[in-house]
Formats: sequence, C-alpha cells, structure tokens
Amino acid sequence: MNIGESIFYGVGVGPGDPELITLKAARIIRNADIVCYIINVNGESVAKNIALDVLADSKKAQVTLPIEISMSIGRTDINKAYDNASIEILSSLREGKNVAFLCEGDPLFFGSFIYLMDRISEQQECKIIPGITSVNAASAQLTTPLTILSEDMAIISSRSTDEKILATLSAYDTVAILKAGPQLPRLTKLLQTASRDDETQYIEYATHKNERIVKDLSLLSDNKGPYFSLLLITRKEREYRCD
Ligand SMILES: C[S@@+](CC[C@H](N)C(=O)[O-])C[C@H]1O[C@@H](n2cnc3c(N)ncnc32)[C@H](O)[C@@H]1O
Repeated sequence: MNIGESIFYGVGVGPGDPELITLKAARIIRNADIVCYIINVNGESVAKNIALDVLADSKKAQVTLPIEISMSIGRTDINKAYDNASIEILSSLREGKNVAFLCEGDPLFFGSFIYLMDRISEQQECKIIPGITSVNAASAQLTTPLTILSEDMAIISSRSTDEKILATLSAYDTVAILKAGPQLPRLTKLLQTASRDDETQYIEYATHKNERIVKDLSLLSDNKGPYFSLLLITRKEREYRCD
C-alpha cells in the first residue's frame, strides 16, 4: 500500500572514491527532499563523506536525517534503532517527501538499507540505485580478475565459523572474505591451513585516499586491520588463454 507518490531510495555511493558515484545516484541524491545515512557514535558517516561533493550541489531546503547505529551494541538495540528510524522515514514519506538513504558500496550487498527496506517496503515504494561494491573495487585496485572461464566464486564474512571458512576456501576458486581486518590473525591461520595463504591479497579502504594493499600475507604478521578491509583469494594458476 503506497500512500502518495513519494519513494524511499536506497542509493549506492560506491566504495569510496567520489568519482565512482554513478550519475543516477548523484541525481537522486541532489533531488531528494531528505537525505539519510548511518552515523557512528562519533557522528561520522562513511557514506555521507563519499557523497559530500554531490550533497554540496543539492537543492536548497534539503534535510539530512542521520541515524546513529553503533555496531558495538547488541542486535536487539540495533533492531530498535532501525525500528525508530523507519518510523521517522515513513512519516516523511507520508508527507510526500522523497527520501534517499546513502549506502556505502551497493545498498543490497550487506547494506544497512536492507533492514530499513524490510520495514518500509510493504507500506511505501522502495527503489534501488545500485553502487559499485567493495569486491569489485578490490578487484580493480588489485588488477585481479574475480573469475575467469569456469572458475567459481564465493563471498563470505569473517564472522563465519572456522569450518565454514575452510570449506569455502576448499570448494571455490575465488573467495572474498569481508569484514576481514578485525579477524586478520585468525584468518591468516585459516588461509595457511587451507594452503591458500600465498593466493591471498589484502586491501583496506579500497579507492579511498588512505587505501592500503598488502600482497604478501606474511607481511601482515599478527596485526589486525580496520573494518573496511577484505581479503581476495584467487588461484595462482589461472587459465587466461584456453584453446
Ligand atoms: C557492511 S559491509 C558493506 C558492503 C558494501 N555495501 C559493499 O557494497 O561493498 C562492510 C564490509 O564491506 C567491505 N568494504 C566496504 N567498503 C570497503 C572498501 N572501500 N575497502 C575494502 N573493504 C570494504 C569490508 O569487508 C567491510 O567490512
């Protein structure tokens, strides 16, 4: 049931480099009545920072609606925060305002937009503007193809169990492990166990100004990295040219 014509947009702003925001995303952000984004306890928003130039260009009278979600709180409190945010967003939509929710990368790829869409889509129209994901950005920055010919690929979170990560490393040619930084020492050991440590590249803040790439896993030693990091594991021997 849609009340009025207003739309709740999930807008992907890409992995970090503002030039990787699509033209469509920029247009939707500029024209939105209300721009929403997640902030941490310090009031910082990765998605908003990526879109700063676009926001500076926005129509006047644009309202911003930051939603504070601290990942350190429990799932019950996170759910409560999404409940409250969706009530606020729905009330703006019912006033006939279009709302653009900025999402780092792509909104439907591990994006916080998903939890709001789940609460709003039955009552109000939601539209998605896709963004370049962190996995695509990592592949580009590392100049490493994700998949070739018959290779297959899995994406897994570092929060998965050891058993699941080892099984994935054994079953798939290419594996991207997200949320890698905080779990790096554990992941390094798992990659060694799976004999895939020498097929692994690490990247943090892909396409941001402070991007860091490590191609030799042994150089990471026991250090942890930031949340915005991932490991990309690809076969050493790859069939670039098949007959
Ligand atoms: C909640 S997920 C969001 C994914 C995002 N929606 C996307 O499309 O890539 C957050 C995880 O994505 C990965 N990530 C997001 N942006 C990144 C970047 N610029 N560089 C490296 N990893 C990134 C990290 O693994 C991080 O822990």
